[in-house]
Amino acid sequence: MKIPNTECVKKIGEEVLLAGWVHIRRDHGKIIFIDLRDRSGLIQLVFNPQNSPNGKNDYYKLADTLRAEYVIEVSGTVKKRPAGMENPKIETGEIEIEIEKLELLAKAKTPPFDLTKDTKDVDEELRMKYRYLDLRTSRVSKIIEMRHNVVKFIRDYLSNLDFWEIETPILSKSTPEGARDFIVPSRQQPGKFYALPQSPQQYKQMLMLAGIEKYFQIAHCLRDEDPRGDRQAEHTQLDIEMSFITQEDILKLIEDLYSNLIKKLFPEKKITTYPFPRMTYQQTLEKYKSDKPDLRKNKNDSNELAFAFIVDFPMFEWLKGDKKWGAMHHPFTKPQSESIEEMKNHPEKIKAFQYDFVLNGFEIGGGSIRTTNLKILEAVFEVLGHSSDEIKKQFGHYFEAFSYGVPPHGGIAPGIDRLIMLLANEPNIREVIAFPKTGDGRDLMMNAPSDVSNEQLKELKIKILKND
Ligand code: AMO
Repeated sequence: MKIPNTECVKKIGEEVLLAGWVHIRRDHGKIIFIDLRDRSGLIQLVFNPQNSPNGKNDYYKLADTLRAEYVIEVSGTVKKRPAGMENPKIETGEIEIEIEKLELLAKAKTPPFDLTKDTKDVDEELRMKYRYLDLRTSRVSKIIEMRHNVVKFIRDYLSNLDFWEIETPILSKSTPEGARDFIVPSRQQPGKFYALPQSPQQYKQMLMLAGIEKYFQIAHCLRDEDPRGDRQAEHTQLDIEMSFITQEDILKLIEDLYSNLIKKLFPEKKITTYPFPRMTYQQTLEKYKSDKPDLRKNKNDSNELAFAFIVDFPMFEWLKGDKKWGAMHHPFTKPQSESIEEMKNHPEKIKAFQYDFVLNGFEIGGGSIRTTNLKILEAVFEVLGHSSDEIKKQFGHYFEAFSYGVPPHGGIAPGIDRLIMLLANEPNIREVIAFPKTGDGRDLMMNAPSDVSNEQLKELKIKILKND
């Protein structure tokens, strides 16, 4: 099997098998140089006519036909480059491969944009259509690698603390996370719909009821909301829930996890204040006119990370458009007051055990301690304008589950995309998602959303109303 290009630095004098894409070809007199690219990086291949036997295995002649993005496999000997010919810009710049064998694995059309350069200035729709090409470029590939390393660190860290990673369903039921649901028609139950999860909120609470105690998931969340720089229809959360804990236990877990992650994977970055400041919502609004303040000391420093926790959010917010109360976080959040009367008469006064996790002016996480007192939960739903019947219909399963012995519990869900965006110093989360969507929710590579056949619609008993 081929080895990664960058491993060749440890193999001077040895014969190696490599494979990848032709990055750049340069002809110097009779000698052909090719920069071969694989996931690990670039390496210089040297095709010298003297090493190539004539006849059907004429590697030199074949090398002469190679163009950008052709896929090749080569074997040859790792040599130190002649003095003065080193290239300090690449990891393998001290060596080159003297090729003894070349096989062409696939030809390639000329790419629609230059893959040897940073594609930041290339039209974004073009990059999205050819995202598999964009992902070949060094900057984007490094972000994807960084994302893998961050997620792996989180998985290992939490597993070492006895958290269990548990998957929860994607075909589910509407949950009140505050955005519109994506819905999926059921073929077997015509006229009924699943909702895609805006988050695993109810499932993770059910896992606490199930006695799991410490849960996490790298969870895909789907919200039908208008995307913007830090928002996508699909995003990923590090979803966490724990039983028998306090708010401070959760904040401390996150503080330890994130500070250790930065120390291990991003030693060049500096955390502005440790322990991370904890400020109340009220104080933060008064002082910074924002509930996600940018607390960096020097905003031009790309390596500064100012984490903070904002606590004591109001339980409810007045939704001017709808002229009704909404939950500031979600209805399962525990109010700090146990008085149902106060909640019904003065919802504006009620604070919640709710916290946001903030980094450099972005909300990178949110969570809360959950209500386990069903009378209070019912009152919360009433303030939110749900009738008793509606509550029973929509949340009956939840109320029933809670009557079978519910542990005190709470959790948090830091967004992975926003974190990577900030760590990679990228201007939006589309850059850090392998296959992002456009501002109007299209996947240009797959051409989704798309029409479905009449047969499919018929099977689902769905009729499309024509736009007026
Ligand atoms: P919340 O809705 O606050 O909480 O989301 C948690 C975090 O997820 C990220 N996030 C997003 N990232 C990109 N695009 C989006 N559309 C998007 N929406 C949210 C943010 C946000 O802080 N179930 C609760 C958590 C809990 O209570 O445990 C929840 O989903 O970084």
